[in-house]
Amino acid sequence: MKFVDEIKRTNMCGSLRGTDDGESVVLMGWIDQIRDMGGRYFMLLRDRTGVVQLRFDKESPTFATAGTIRNEWVVAVLGKAEHRGTNVNPDMPTGEVEVVVSEVEVLNRAATPPFVIRDDTDAGEELKLKYRYLDLRRPVMQDKLIKRALVNRVTRRFLDGQDFLELETPTLMKSTPEGARDFLVPSRLHRGSFYALPQSPQLFKQIFMVAGYDRYYQIARCYRDEDLRADRQPEFTQIDIEMSFANEADIMAVVEELMVDLVKEVTGRQVSLPVRRMHYDEAMDKYGIDRPDLRFGMEIQNGADIFKRSQFGLFQTILEAGGMTRGICVPGAAAYSRKQLDELTKFVGIYGARGLVWLKCTDEGLSGPVAKFLGPELQPELLALMAANVGDLLLFVGGDKKIVNASLAALRNRLGPVVYPERLDDFEFCWVHEFPMFELDEEENRLVAMHHPFTQPIPEHMPLLATAPEKVYSRAYDIILNGVELGGGSIRIHDMEMQKAVFDAMKISAEEAEAKFGFFLEALKFGAPPHCGLALGLDRIVMMLTGTSSIRDVIAFPKTTSGTCLMTASPGPVDQRQLEELGLSTKLHQ
Ligand code: AMO
Repeated sequence: MKFVDEIKRTNMCGSLRGTDDGESVVLMGWIDQIRDMGGRYFMLLRDRTGVVQLRFDKESPTFATAGTIRNEWVVAVLGKAEHRGTNVNPDMPTGEVEVVVSEVEVLNRAATPPFVIRDDTDAGEELKLKYRYLDLRRPVMQDKLIKRALVNRVTRRFLDGQDFLELETPTLMKSTPEGARDFLVPSRLHRGSFYALPQSPQLFKQIFMVAGYDRYYQIARCYRDEDLRADRQPEFTQIDIEMSFANEADIMAVVEELMVDLVKEVTGRQVSLPVRRMHYDEAMDKYGIDRPDLRFGMEIQNGADIFKRSQFGLFQTILEAGGMTRGICVPGAAAYSRKQLDELTKFVGIYGARGLVWLKCTDEGLSGPVAKFLGPELQPELLALMAANVGDLLLFVGGDKKIVNASLAALRNRLGPVVYPERLDDFEFCWVHEFPMFELDEEENRLVAMHHPFTQPIPEHMPLLATAPEKVYSRAYDIILNGVELGGGSIRIHDMEMQKAVFDAMKISAEEAEAKFGFFLEALKFGAPPHCGLALGLDRIVMMLTGTSSIRDVIAFPKTTSGTCLMTASPGPVDQRQLEELGLSTKLHQ
């Protein structure tokens, strides 16, 4: 090939500007659009930096070749950049110039793509995933992956600069089934035995601390066989950090600075420090959720004191049975129609709420089916509690704590963007810390660690481990951005006795602990320093910084919600021979 081998590319398509007028340039890329103007062809040439207009004139020896070129062919051109004079296209970054082509070479042809490669393509999700390489040619997708690469680069630069060591941990490891399900890999050399793919590098990074590799990080691939959602993939990436001789304030400071850098480099925006810190109980109390979206006010208020004294039997019954009656004030939403209110009622039903009490704040006081149960003396009290003004809408849910919290948290998240559209682009970070140490696994009817069992209980709660473990809080923390959990971590246990007490509280016997984490407990005996850490979901960070709501958009080759890769058709069956080598046969159980 004359181009590529002899004639090298001089410029990227997206880089040309009016100031390049008169420059001789060599460009290589894909044909994005072709316009046949009779005596002239105009084409757009695309590479990952953008598109630029090419011009093939009738007089040029390139004209005949140009006539054969089709969309998505790969071509190289030599030509002169010319200012477009009065024909400047202000909608294109390169719109001031076009390249008048004097030599062209078709580097490769392309089959007709199954969908139009444009940002506004109407191709369905499945088709795009099957032909992911074509989907990834679209500028919107390229922008996300280029920003992902930037997130990697900024993270490395920042952590390297802070003296963290980038170290790797194995991806074939021992299965330690805690939390999500493991992906298993059968061993050929040890028939009948399995490796597991890491759910996170947790134990290895702690062992690095024991080994003295203070300040570790890794951009680590993790694998979890769990049900997928819009922000979850079976295979995802963590920015995994661990440091010794440090506490909450130290690790939080590192993460905050990293986030400031990432937001600035990727979006050009400034995050103000320090990030707000909120106790878990406060988050649950005010927002009903441990990852509050602080862009929207609408804090949850407790209406119990007022409803107790009202004539509203339903809420009274709920309160007498130990339930809650809580609500939010939605500014300016008093004009909601009956239909809209019915929709909201149906919506909270998803979270288990039996109904939604709505009260409109009007000039004449409260209106709505329940208003009549609140006497004239209670109405002003309720308005004051909710800090409500005329024109606002009050929404209350009654029931048990879990249902009330989940319903109101969901209402806030649904109504926030409608009520405060001007705040949608804000970045509101917060730390939620001191989570409960344990939660009840209802299926197994036993306590499991809310973060993980290597997390320290808060010191004042140590005595409760043996007597009332459900009341123990932990030194765990999550970093939240606009209601999305970006990452989480904790101060680790470095003392064997404390670790034993935590296992006891979880009813994990010494034998079971030994079988599952023996190697790790052994390591703790050999001078483990005080240490702590955290892992950030890299995919989620890129989602937030590129403003997309699907994690698939920021992963080059993602899985569908049923865990399949449509491009390679995996998972799939394997050869009989491969199974034989592993000493396995497949017998599927229903
Ligand atoms: P955790 O399980 O909270 O902590 O995970 C840390 C962060 O990883 C991201 N994340 C995911 N992203 C995409 N798909 C998934 N399936 C998925 N699961 C988790 C989230 C989450 O906040 N070892 C501990 C960290 C530590 O204590 O240092 C851990 O893995 O953004």
